[in-house]
Amino acid sequence: MLSSFICSLFFLTQFRLSFSLSQYCLTKFLCCGSSRNSNHIIKMAMWVFGYGSLIWKAGFNYDDRLVGFIKDYRRVFYQGSTDHRGTPEYPGRTVTLEPAPGEVCWGAAYKISKEEDKETAITYLEVREKQYDKKAYVDFFTDPLATTPAISGVMVYIASPDKKLNPNYLGPASIEDIAKQIVRAEGPSGPNREYLFQLEKALLQIGCKDKHLMDLANEARRILSESEHTAS
Ligand code: SIN
Repeated sequence: MLSSFICSLFFLTQFRLSFSLSQYCLTKFLCCGSSRNSNHIIKMAMWVFGYGSLIWKAGFNYDDRLVGFIKDYRRVFYQGSTDHRGTPEYPGRTVTLEPAPGEVCWGAAYKISKEEDKETAITYLEVREKQYDKKAYVDFFTDPLATTPAISGVMVYIASPDKKLNPNYLGPASIEDIAKQIVRAEGPSGPNREYLFQLEKALLQIGCKDKHLMDLANEARRILSESEHTAS
């Protein structure tokens, strides 16, 4: 009886030890650039966080997509777009991230594992996100109650407020003015309002209610229906 109890205890301890070890290895594998074992280098997966159009249109091959959030940032329509949703004559507005201690920004993280996919994704994103002057590496969470991130070192594109590095930055304005600008602007990737409404839909699909964005979408709909009434 006693020996079978000691045996179970031993088994449990061994199991917990090997489970913790495999968890440690998995975390190492996901979070670091690469690691070397005795014979070869193990390449790590790359993760990209999307909080704007990347949520509904990745545009590159990926192996996994997780819905979740990053901490201490909020999504704001403060970036001017002259290449996608506007023109140099009449810029549109797209989202960027603003530091906001205590807040969170929901979106989607994409895992890219194959070396050829990583290269293609980076080449593609560097063109698509060329008006975003900064890349940050952040902790990504999937569980609002978790204190440790699901993934660390997730890459994210940010348009900074530094006008020298980011001449297209527009910054804050009233909800009415931002919505008016979005309703009017159109660029090579389509109308700016389509970007706003698609982002609203994509966020609702992942269960996120973003007040700044919903206020803008409601105001844009109000402007559009008012102009329809005036025209008819
Ligand atoms: C992003 O989606 O993460 C960047 C902003 C955008 O392309 O809309």
